[in-house]
Amino acid sequence: MDISVIGLGKVGLSLVSCLVAAGHKVIGVDIDLAVVEAVNRRALQTQEPGVLERLRLAPQAALVATADLAQAVRDTELTFVIVPTPSNTLGGFSLRHVLRACDDIGAGVRAKSADHTVAIVSTLLPGSSDAVVIPRLEQASGRKIGAGLLYCYNPSFIALGEVVKGFEQPDYLLIGETDRRPGDIVLAIHKSIVKVNPPVARMTPVEAEIAKVASNTHETMRVSFANMLLTVCSEVPGANVDRITDALAHRMGRRFFKGAVPYGGPCWPRDNQAFSAFIDMIGAVSTLPRAVDTFNDEHARFVLRKILELSSPGETVGLLGLAYKPGTPVVERAFAIDLSRWLVRERRCVIGWDPLAIDGARDVLGDRITFEPVVEDCLRQSDVAVITIPLRELQGVNWASGSHLRMVDCWRCLPADAAACFAEYVPLGRGPSTHVGGWLEKTAGDRFRLLTS
Ligand SMILES: NC(=O)c1ccc[n+]([C@@H]2O[C@H](COP(=O)([O-])OP(=O)(O)OC[C@H]3O[C@@H](n4cnc5c(N)ncnc54)[C@H](O)[C@@H]3O)[C@@H](O)[C@H]2O)c1
Repeated sequence: MDISVIGLGKVGLSLVSCLVAAGHKVIGVDIDLAVVEAVNRRALQTQEPGVLERLRLAPQAALVATADLAQAVRDTELTFVIVPTPSNTLGGFSLRHVLRACDDIGAGVRAKSADHTVAIVSTLLPGSSDAVVIPRLEQASGRKIGAGLLYCYNPSFIALGEVVKGFEQPDYLLIGETDRRPGDIVLAIHKSIVKVNPPVARMTPVEAEIAKVASNTHETMRVSFANMLLTVCSEVPGANVDRITDALAHRMGRRFFKGAVPYGGPCWPRDNQAFSAFIDMIGAVSTLPRAVDTFNDEHARFVLRKILELSSPGETVGLLGLAYKPGTPVVERAFAIDLSRWLVRERRCVIGWDPLAIDGARDVLGDRITFEPVVEDCLRQSDVAVITIPLRELQGVNWASGSHLRMVDCWRCLPADAAACFAEYVPLGRGPSTHVGGWLEKTAGDRFRLLTS
């Protein structure tokens, strides 16, 4: 099928690579001429695994890029829209890029006689398709939905650093369709690129819009619940958070359920905030997502407090991991970036190390902290080190270079022989080895007797 993809960013370009690998002819569209030129010269830069390989293997004619959206629509049957929907000041998602794309799509549709299908992949606030996007497409194209203009809301559940995997091995496919026909068309395209047999959830556009933001909100709730257990187990003698979350996982599943650092990144915090804003707007109760956000902020302070307790002003704290998660250079709302700022304010010197994110962190932190490209050098210069994300690259580290320091392992990811290298090893989520009874006596006094009488 001839397909156009609007927006050749982190998600769009990855989808393009999967489409051409599946044998489709694709016209990629971006307003950024440098991106268009890079795609046409196959001189692309991306950190997403699998994208360049797929593009390299595809015949040259399988992919052309252009800034002319209307022409791309004229020359194709289906358009995926994957442009940014940035958070606005009220916490919602701005549709300004989507609407600009709709106007150009409409112009393209006006110039052709065949039916055209539009699938919006960008994350939308619930209600956006019916209230804003579809009317704009109808106005711009001069056609009605179902009469020459077909529409789906088709969000993807992908994670940066494995976007191709998200498209080729999705947990499930979500189709928000105005009627069966566009749903069938979009589903057939996904089925042509998947390497697994994913379940399919078909529903109306507004249901799919709710499902998309609810999915991320649900995930933040699970992350926060595991983090709450971490804070409890960090204090209770003999408790180990992993034994508890592993046990609960038998009933409730393992995903997004490891006590560690607060969540961050470009999607979870903003989707949680947007869903809360939407719930408030319609007069329903947003206590739950707002409580999750509030807890996340509190949890950040909990981890900060642990690090401050272990370090003195003037000492150096090494942060192992600057991105918001492993396998990506993205530092947007990364915990390590907040932590750096707070530690500097508390008069600690900070050295940051990360295999991919040093440049990104330097862009936002400037010279507030120093950066060390070799992890062992970072350890040598630190009095306290903190594992902020469980990077795969930590597996090959010579930990003996940190034998003098106090190591805070937020993820409890170091094996026992590595943990034994340090002057002190502090795995968050594991309580002290004192006796519970004595500890309760000291911390709660009579209150425990009252609670159990
Ligand atoms: N990044 C993620 O992890 C993720 C996950 C799920 C969903 N999403 C959603 O996908 C959408 C895109 O995200 P991204 O991370 O790929 O963004 P991105 O910023 O990496 O890329 C967006 C691209 O769209 C281009 N663009 C903007 N307006 C355009 C227009 N009118 N016409 C053509 N091109 C245009 C930009 O130049 C840019 O190259 C967003 O709505 C985001 O919320 C992202």
